[in-house]
Amino acid sequence: MAERNLDFDKGLDRKGTDSIKFDYTERFHMPEDVLSYWVADMDFPTSSYVQDAVIEAVQKGAFGYTLAGDDYFDAVAGWMLRHHDLKVEPEWLVQTPGVVFGLAHGVRAYTEPGDTVLIQEPVYYPFANVIRHNDRKVVSNDLVLREDGTYGIDFEDFETKLKEDHPKLFILCSPHNPVGRVWIREELKTLGDLCKQYGVLVLADEIHSDLTFGATHTSFFNVDPSFQEFSLLCTAPSKTFNLAGLQTSNLFIPNKSLRNRFRKELDRSGAGQPNQLGLIACKAAYTHGEEWYDALIATLSANLDFAVDFINTRSPGLRALKPEGTYLLWVDCRRLGLSGKELDRFIREEAKLWLDGGTMFGPTGEGFQRINVATSREYLQKGLEQLEAAVLRKERQ
Ligand SMILES: Cc1ncc(COP(=O)(O)O)c(C=O)c1O
Repeated sequence: MAERNLDFDKGLDRKGTDSIKFDYTERFHMPEDVLSYWVADMDFPTSSYVQDAVIEAVQKGAFGYTLAGDDYFDAVAGWMLRHHDLKVEPEWLVQTPGVVFGLAHGVRAYTEPGDTVLIQEPVYYPFANVIRHNDRKVVSNDLVLREDGTYGIDFEDFETKLKEDHPKLFILCSPHNPVGRVWIREELKTLGDLCKQYGVLVLADEIHSDLTFGATHTSFFNVDPSFQEFSLLCTAPSKTFNLAGLQTSNLFIPNKSLRNRFRKELDRSGAGQPNQLGLIACKAAYTHGEEWYDALIATLSANLDFAVDFINTRSPGLRALKPEGTYLLWVDCRRLGLSGKELDRFIREEAKLWLDGGTMFGPTGEGFQRINVATSREYLQKGLEQLEAAVLRKERQ
């Protein structure tokens, strides 16, 4: 059977599929004619192997309680080994209906109300949400925007936060959403060594690890084998294969005592068996999805180049920072001289775009916007032209 879905030019019209990105503008108070580039899923159909496997299961019609078998683990482990040189053991695997669900349960399992949890803002906003919604406190080791337009880590501040705020947990975003860094081994080693020294557990969210463009992702588990003792690895096929709606993610917890505490927390919330179609899709993706994945990476890489070039040459006042990983473009709009709220309004009302405003990612995101480029070139260009036109209109005022 050959892969059929290798043509990414057309994209996928998702209107009418109950897409959160396209079908609920009214619910989110967005203008009806807005073009949408926010939530991190893609306007491409998944691999035809995934579709075929799901169709076969649907035709059988057996939708009872289910569990992940050995063949499921082998498919996941095979992908991790081939793509990240990472060897995982069957007993480490804990499944959750999504990575954010896993992070929330990690926060509850390993900290108490009132404790602090460390993150690196600007960062994917559910990190702060799952901490605050569980009555814990957010402490941020803010990333630093360097002269060359890349972000780095202030390690001295990281250590100060460990010393003075006593977090029990650090949520690492690797690769990093929204700034697009693919952390190198040395950076991860310094973070890990410090966490080890201060007795801080690490939730390593590596959901974007397959989506890198030239840079090599290093799994936190591979930085130093001793890191596996105090960390959890969160992975999923959802970003890579566009399967977020099937709610299937794979966490790896090598330390038995940490694993038991995590499982107990899952039991507490009554989290039961996995989503059957999610398992089937994940297994098919990781087993047969290589060709589709290669074509996807080529498409995303070209879209990122296109968007960065478009914005940086045609939209005065904006600077797009080219990501090493993720299909999310972090755009510095500070030279427009607007507050975070004004900028969001400008993007929504003047450019007629639905993006993720920078302040959602923490105070240091003020003046930035995040654009998802995982869409057809045509739709991407249309949005960038609207942005350009709005910026030029503003310039003329
Ligand atoms: C860093 C990061 N973690 C987790 C998620 C979402 O994971 P899930 O849908 O599995 O909860 C996203 C989605 O954008 C993300 O960027």
